[in-house]
Amino acid sequence: MRPLAATAAIQAAAFAILYALPPGLASVGAATLPAAALAVSALAMVAASRIGAGSWVWTAVNAAMPLCGLTVVAFKVPATPFLVAALFALAIFGPAAAYRVPLYLSGRCAARALRLLMAARKAPLVADLGCGVGTILVEASRLKSSRVIGAEAALVPYLICRARLWLAGATNCEIRFGDLFAMDLRGVDIAYAFLSPAPMPRLIAKARREMPRGSLLVSNTFGSSADPPDRMIRLPDAKRSYLLVWIMPGGSLVRAPDRST
Ligand SMILES: C[S@@+](CC[C@H](N)C(=O)[O-])C[C@H]1O[C@@H](n2cnc3c(N)ncnc32)[C@H](O)[C@@H]1O
Repeated sequence: MRPLAATAAIQAAAFAILYALPPGLASVGAATLPAAALAVSALAMVAASRIGAGSWVWTAVNAAMPLCGLTVVAFKVPATPFLVAALFALAIFGPAAAYRVPLYLSGRCAARALRLLMAARKAPLVADLGCGVGTILVEASRLKSSRVIGAEAALVPYLICRARLWLAGATNCEIRFGDLFAMDLRGVDIAYAFLSPAPMPRLIAKARREMPRGSLLVSNTFGSSADPPDRMIRLPDAKRSYLLVWIMPGGSLVRAPDRST
């Protein structure tokens, strides 16, 4: 079950249990309502970890929600701050739930390796698929001979990315708000992605359908066991992370110099 759907189901059940409690419970004893909310919170936590609501983050979210409900009811706290916080979290992490890709950022080593690859290939068009707050785009746009494009589906990272590109004066760079799978990869020489294992088989298939001969799909860390990469580039960072490279048929990692000019 997808984490968002599992969480919705668990929280609906938690709400139903709390709602079904006798109306006078809050006044029975000071500890009764918190004890009930804690019990429901523990149940939600166990359910989240058992039915696959995913990582510990989702387990924590499931445990916290009944307690937030308790705070609102017992202490008569206005619910608006919780609603605003939830909407803000959705604007940052919404795609993490929908596409099963969390927001974490490429390190400097990955960004630098990609820029060196761009320079070596004289790549005319480079894409960051799921560009987050623009770490890769800002670095890549420093190479003025390349055009750089990005797609991001989460609102807050998208706006931060736009602001960073504007501050960096990146005139060779463009960012689109929306699903990366809607982006046309024809003409893209290097497509970079730092996603998760979940979308990789679909992304590799898309790259193979659309990207030109000899172009590169570069994925930070994540691959697909069904379609192993052609090259692996180790990064000199503390995490010993790596870039996986799929070379579209008929090419090599670094193009041979053009001797016709
Ligand atoms: C792990 S972050 C990487 C950000 C950036 N590429 C970097 O390397 O620093 C993945 C980003 O992809 C975005 N994302 C995931 N699936 C997406 C999709 N289908 N369309 C657009 N963006 C997506 C997420 O919102 C997140 O910001």
